[in-house]
Amino acid sequence: MIDLHCHILPGVDDGPTSLTESLKLARFFVDDGINVVTATPHCHSCIHLLRDDILPHVAAYNRALVAAGIPLTVLPGSEIQVYDSSLYRREFDEDVYCHLGNRRTHTLLEFSWDADKFPSDSVELIEWIRSREMTPIVAHPERHFFFRDRPILLQRLVDAGAWIQITVDSLIGNFGPEAKAFGEQFLKTHHEAIIASDAHNTRRCSGLSAGYSWVAVNLGSDRSRDLLDRAERVRTSLMTEQISLPTFKAKAG
Ligand SMILES: [Fe+2]
Repeated sequence: MIDLHCHILPGVDDGPTSLTESLKLARFFVDDGINVVTATPHCHSCIHLLRDDILPHVAAYNRALVAAGIPLTVLPGSEIQVYDSSLYRREFDEDVYCHLGNRRTHTLLEFSWDADKFPSDSVELIEWIRSREMTPIVAHPERHFFFRDRPILLQRLVDAGAWIQITVDSLIGNFGPEAKAFGEQFLKTHHEAIIASDAHNTRRCSGLSAGYSWVAVNLGSDRSRDLLDRAERVRTSLMTEQISLPTFKAKAG
């Protein structure tokens, strides 16, 4: 499996504070059946991590995984918060963002938790990104109260071409009954969806297998397979010609 949203890099944002903690999370992922993750550290007004900040951390972390004998490949990425659509467009055009896989296919967008910072031209922004032949993926809308209060806001983004990403911990109830209910509802309402861990450490992570199992039980095995297949198609597009990262080789013995 591939996890497309997680904060696994040590010491760069509010994810693991040490390499030890991060490697513990990596081992959890491998035990869960995950072999590729996109590291998606925050890019928002407080922690504004751009490609040049992120790539060296990803390269160093992949070397640490190889040294530790952990069969996990980490691709670059970031969780880019849109709180000022003009700033977003400018930085996008300056090509400083680290989109998923450091490629121009899929990008992970987060809206501010503050409803007052939801850009009034969000639909136009989604269309603008799509016009650049990229797929914007809206991170965890089920956790934003303004999407829960006004699902039409999310519907408009989806109609404009956005995918949605639902967090596994929401589905299994770890973010409360409302996030759980809306996570289920949004998965029913919006076909173009993925699930991801949004893991920050081993305490805030339920992996992916629990999420796919939850979907299979509650929404049917066909939907679970559909979500898994969509994530795999993203993996294929992100790893095509991905040549700059070290390849994992199992340690002898
Ligand atoms: Fe996140």
